[in-house]
Amino acid sequence: MKGLILAGGSGRRLRPLTHTSAKQLVPIANKPILHYVVEDLVGVGVTDLGIIVGDTAAEIRDSVGDGSRWGATVTYIEQSAPLGLAHAVVEAGVFLGDDPFVMYLGDNMFEDSLEAVVEGFAEGGGVSARLLLSRVDDPGSFGVAELGDDGSISQLVEKPENPNSDLALVGVYLFGSAIHEAVRSIQPSARGELEITDAISWLLERGDTVEHHLLDGWWIDTGKKDPLLECNRLVLDDLTADVAGSVDAASVLEGTVRVEAGAEVVGCTLVGPVVVAAGARIEDSRVGPYVSVGADCTVTDATVDHSVLMESSRVAGGAHLSDSVLGHHAEVSGGGSASLLLGDHSVVELGESTGGEGV
Ligand code: DAU
Repeated sequence: MKGLILAGGSGRRLRPLTHTSAKQLVPIANKPILHYVVEDLVGVGVTDLGIIVGDTAAEIRDSVGDGSRWGATVTYIEQSAPLGLAHAVVEAGVFLGDDPFVMYLGDNMFEDSLEAVVEGFAEGGGVSARLLLSRVDDPGSFGVAELGDDGSISQLVEKPENPNSDLALVGVYLFGSAIHEAVRSIQPSARGELEITDAISWLLERGDTVEHHLLDGWWIDTGKKDPLLECNRLVLDDLTADVAGSVDAASVLEGTVRVEAGAEVVGCTLVGPVVVAAGARIEDSRVGPYVSVGADCTVTDATVDHSVLMESSRVAGGAHLSDSVLGHHAEVSGGGSASLLLGDHSVVELGESTGGEGV
């Protein structure tokens, strides 16, 4: 079985962060989302991987390389434009051939291994697709499945205004070769995309067998700030404590804290779970809980909780950040409190009265 990872698209909902970098490379507990995706696929024996890339192709190639570090082979497929998930399948046609494949959305994260989901699929048995479903509170943000009296899928609708079901289509799909005819037979949706949901509906209408699995563990589409931070929290909940970097005697570590070799902590209180990457320096600050501090960040005289600080970002001067995502080299200073989503190289100075949401 092959793997098709979708890492193109436009990342609209994470702007300004995604003006300059790929949403699939945002780090969760200091590891890019896309690396978790590759590990998941390799973990179930899927090592022949195609990665759909768009405007951020160079960055994604730099980060994933040829896949050999995971024992995988990666073929990059440049999508001519981000015209939808089904369009990505059309453009991956040569790579996929007639092999069954797992399509994995490169901004989705899962708690559990895909083992039970992929089991038995490659052997065929006349099944055209196997979908993964999960109950959600906001079905209107997803593709939604309705089940008939016999428990099988009766209808699929992409982001319905008035959902009749709370079963969302999760970002992992298994397909046999029948999907190729389907993706070539559908028309663009109202938002101008070739929807994979419509291609699967086409299979259902033709009478093909479309199976589904209900997901047990958590699943997060990380494409917006709040789910991304929620994902960071969930992954950090499983952090293993390890202090390989330098922590001075004046610092206090509470809970699960990981300080990587080459990181420095001076005069701080770290409230786990917190992970601090190599090259980071934290001084006279209170950090945590649920904070990922990326490589080469500096946090000085600041308070940070429930946040992701990407590589080389800086927080200083009495700033108090909560629920924030800072892009590479972003800088925040000043004595106010805020919740920020900052693109790479942004500079924000907080006043005492600054508060609430900022971008
Ligand atoms: O996360 C699950 C949802 O993913 C499903 O419930 C929906 O049915 C499905 O349409 C999809 O919805 P999104 O609006 O979240 O898809 P998004 O545009 O975020 O794209 C998902 C991934 O695919 C993301 O990594 C970007 C990539 N992509 C997207 C498009 C539109 C491509 O590689 N090429 C594209 O043309």
